[in-house]
Amino acid sequence: MRDTRVEVASSTPARAVGRWLIKHPRSVGTTAVLTPAVVLVGYQAALITAGAAVLAGASWRVLDAPTFDRFAGRLLRAWWRRWAVYHRQWLRILVACNLTTSDHKGAVLVPRLRRVRSTWVWDTLFIDLAKGQQPEDIGGVLDRIANSFRARSASLRVLGPGRIAVDLQRREPFDEMPIPLAPLAESTAVERLGQVELGRDEYGRDFALDLLKRDLHVLLAGATGAGKGSWLWGLLRSVAPLIRAGVVRVWMIDPKGGMEFGAGRDLFHRFAADDTTGLKVLREYTSVLDARKIVLGNQGVRAATPSAETPLELLICDELAAMTAYTSRDIKGEFETLLSKALTQYRAVGGRIIAATQEPTKDVVPMRGLFPTKIALRVDQASYVDMCLGEGVRDLGAFADKIPDYMPGVAYLKRDGRREALRVRAAYTADDDIAELVELVTSPGTVSPIRRPIGDDATAPARDGWADTDFEDLEDDEPEEIAYFDGDDEDEEIA
Ligand SMILES: Nc1ncnc2c1ncn2[C@@H]1O[C@H](COP(=O)(O)OP(=O)(O)OP(=O)(O)O)[C@@H](O)[C@H]1O
Ligand SMILES: [Mg+2]
Repeated sequence: MRDTRVEVASSTPARAVGRWLIKHPRSVGTTAVLTPAVVLVGYQAALITAGAAVLAGASWRVLDAPTFDRFAGRLLRAWWRRWAVYHRQWLRILVACNLTTSDHKGAVLVPRLRRVRSTWVWDTLFIDLAKGQQPEDIGGVLDRIANSFRARSASLRVLGPGRIAVDLQRREPFDEMPIPLAPLAESTAVERLGQVELGRDEYGRDFALDLLKRDLHVLLAGATGAGKGSWLWGLLRSVAPLIRAGVVRVWMIDPKGGMEFGAGRDLFHRFAADDTTGLKVLREYTSVLDARKIVLGNQGVRAATPSAETPLELLICDELAAMTAYTSRDIKGEFETLLSKALTQYRAVGGRIIAATQEPTKDVVPMRGLFPTKIALRVDQASYVDMCLGEGVRDLGAFADKIPDYMPGVAYLKRDGRREALRVRAAYTADDDIAELVELVTSPGTVSPIRRPIGDDATAPARDGWADTDFEDLEDDEPEEIAYFDGDDEDEEIA
């Protein structure tokens, strides 16, 4: 066990220096590399190189803050905050918060700050407790710690015996960031499906889903009032011109009696307001796409783009639990089987599924691994975060359970292939905006009728419509892999 004493009686200067060197391998390594380099090239060349590096870093930060933050900023910030903020004030604040103990010789023992990790919003302090302490000792004074470090809030995680992490929320980017609702688009270009605008991310950038390549199926989890409905309406609004043109067909299952999406009934190709009809809609959905699969397969079509002949079939299921948990065994069984089939088989032929649930548990979403994109809005329990986003994502800073209830629409979004989640907020679609949306889609002049006979699909002249996307690529392709920074696992561990 590490010695957490402030002053170690038996310490000699040599031992103290030795201990410092062992404890700071990065600082020692950097000095060991830089010193000979400076000697070799001369201090002027070294200074010029350092200056150029700082300039390059600053330009990168100005031009693309998110990637700078991902690859360099968070490391620098963690390092800087560790030394300039946490380490400098550690003893003072811990003594002030009464978080010290003493041993039999009267030496004062304090918890040890092992490392600091930093994301855009949160700092995490990894701490070894002092002898005689338990996590509750820290848990009882979290507010005092947060205030002392000028953080908005603090929370505690127990990592193991004698080890805890304290998460400090430094900022709330959405406090001051307006999230305007994009005006209803006119363009019916299919490429717009790759840029379904919904809101902004934590860096203030516009945020969009890519229904063509990356966000093929999306799972949304959020407690009641978290803003699931607003995300789904936002998505419908963003693809409205394509719905109007018949390039996107929406199959809506709203098992809450149509309370949430009944207002948009006219937008939908199929609409179900209860579980029995919901199952029928899914049955029909799968039979349409099965037929399309066979037709396109027989024609040897490999390249496809959604079109009026072979539309993107967007199945939206709000309150998934009503179809997979709180319903009869027969409905549940068949619905789960068909949904899993749809999630695995129809990506290449234009099947997209968006499902929303309050509880992302295994009972409700046994097929959650089949959604390449997961979005956690405010959830009721910490365990729901990893259930929705994946194992260990919460520990990396996706604290969806800590999204305040006065911030509906805020969420953490995690794509397959990305290690960390992105904090985003959807714009709010009010009732008037919904009315405007329905008006746009159903107004005279609609290019093709929203409800066309189902048989059209199986016999559609697919070659005309599906012209540019590689089917096999889509089917084989896992959603686009994002290149990671080498040493991603270690990168936030500073000093
Ligand atoms: N993006 C947003 N920005 C601002 N306010 C929002 C946003 N989304 C939702 N709200 C507010 O939160 C309320 C609840 O949102 P919503 O109905 O979308 O929640 P929900 O997750 O669908 O809840 P439930 O599970 O009960 O259906 C809305 O009436 C609105 O006032
Ligand atoms: Mg809802």
